[in-house]
Amino acid sequence: MKVLIIGSGGREHALAWKLAGSEQVERVYVAPGNGGTALEEKCENVPAGLGDPASEAGQEALAGFVRQAGIGLTVVGPEVPLAEGIVDRFRAVGLAIVGPDKKAARLEASKVFSKAFMNKYGVRAAGSRDFIDPAKALDHAKDHFSGPAPAPLVIKADGLAAGKGVVIAADLAEAETCLSSFMKDGALGAAGSSVVLEEFLEGKEVSVLAAVSVRPGSKGVIKPFVSARDHKRRFDGAQGPNTGGMGSIAPVPDFTAAAQKDFETAILQTTLKGMEAEGMDYRGFIFFGLMVKNDRCSLLEYNVRLGDPETQAVLPLSDFDFAGLCAAILDNTLEKFPLTWKAGAVCAPVAVADGYPGAYRKGDPIAVNEAALAKTGARLFIAGAEKVTDTVLRSSGGRVLAVSAWGADADQAWARAYEALGAVSFEGMAYRKDIGRESTSSP
Ligand code: AMP
Ligand code: GLY
Repeated sequence: MKVLIIGSGGREHALAWKLAGSEQVERVYVAPGNGGTALEEKCENVPAGLGDPASEAGQEALAGFVRQAGIGLTVVGPEVPLAEGIVDRFRAVGLAIVGPDKKAARLEASKVFSKAFMNKYGVRAAGSRDFIDPAKALDHAKDHFSGPAPAPLVIKADGLAAGKGVVIAADLAEAETCLSSFMKDGALGAAGSSVVLEEFLEGKEVSVLAAVSVRPGSKGVIKPFVSARDHKRRFDGAQGPNTGGMGSIAPVPDFTAAAQKDFETAILQTTLKGMEAEGMDYRGFIFFGLMVKNDRCSLLEYNVRLGDPETQAVLPLSDFDFAGLCAAILDNTLEKFPLTWKAGAVCAPVAVADGYPGAYRKGDPIAVNEAALAKTGARLFIAGAEKVTDTVLRSSGGRVLAVSAWGADADQAWARAYEALGAVSFEGMAYRKDIGRESTSSP
């Protein structure tokens, strides 16, 4: 079978690698892909000019390509094409595609919709209210900050904002600035015209990715993957600005069996019941962003796709055929599909370009000491680099690559990952040294 992956980041490189490893898969196309997917065995990139997967015309062009190339399965990486109806458009012409339809994608694309869903079906989450009127939102913030020792207030833009839609306001002045920028100045366009104001939760964040097979009129299934954690802040010790993710680990050592059980009861099962009751067509992946304290989980957000960079840590632990999993999601046999996991742990720190997450340098060749890398058993997942020749890549994005290293336990995975990073270099390369060890001092 031939497969198409939509997207261009590290998550898509990990998906391409995993799907290419399937005996059922003869060729993997990636639209538009990156330098890593261009060089991966059995993989090739589809020219970006073929079509933007986030636009109607682009989706139609991609559907045409899929039919013409005889591709039997499409997997969508990022959220925007899903929110823009790529699944609906492909299915309307009989193409097999993994992902939620446009309506179900609102679980990520609209925070107002997603919070209403959580409330309606009793999915445990932070208390919140939503506002379309900036004056009323500001009044709510004033009330919130009027008490003694108020907690921060979490402000979430309703729509998709590429990671810029959540602000944790420490005081009223910050809340006022944020509300004006979102709701009055249109800093995020239409995405900020409504907001959710949410209670601040303390704890440790955990990401649970899962396979979902829910269709109107039949019993649905959600099967969780091993737990993962994204380290979002730029600097060691969780300091500095938020980023798209400075590295990930799987599984999460502090996500105990009790926490897992609580997640399944309070969040996963309630979500599944809600999806069934809403008559959703959701045959794809979901990401539960959790805050966990004393083994009690609350849901911060749904993403209607696999996480990036969590996928780069989770997929190397998977011991099942990913093309088989996609088929099971689509043909209603997910219940019987065994999700088996390798023992051990993966640590996957990300190397970023100098300046990231601000303006960053680009165009630097990436040197890899293949022999030293091979000794660690780690693999590279490219996020922001383009192919120059069959052996040379050049940085083109802020997050350039992740090394994904397996170890018998979290400590060994960590040691191997950093040894592997030592085998990679490019001008201005920077990374965190405490991925998976955030609470301890860096080495
Ligand atoms: P979201 O897009 O909803 O996951 O928010 C992005 C990030 O903001 C999360 O990964 C958390 O770090 C933080 N966050 C979101 N909601 C809350 C909350 N209610 N309490 C504390 N932190 C939050
Ligand atoms: N790692 C968080 C995300 O994929 O949005």
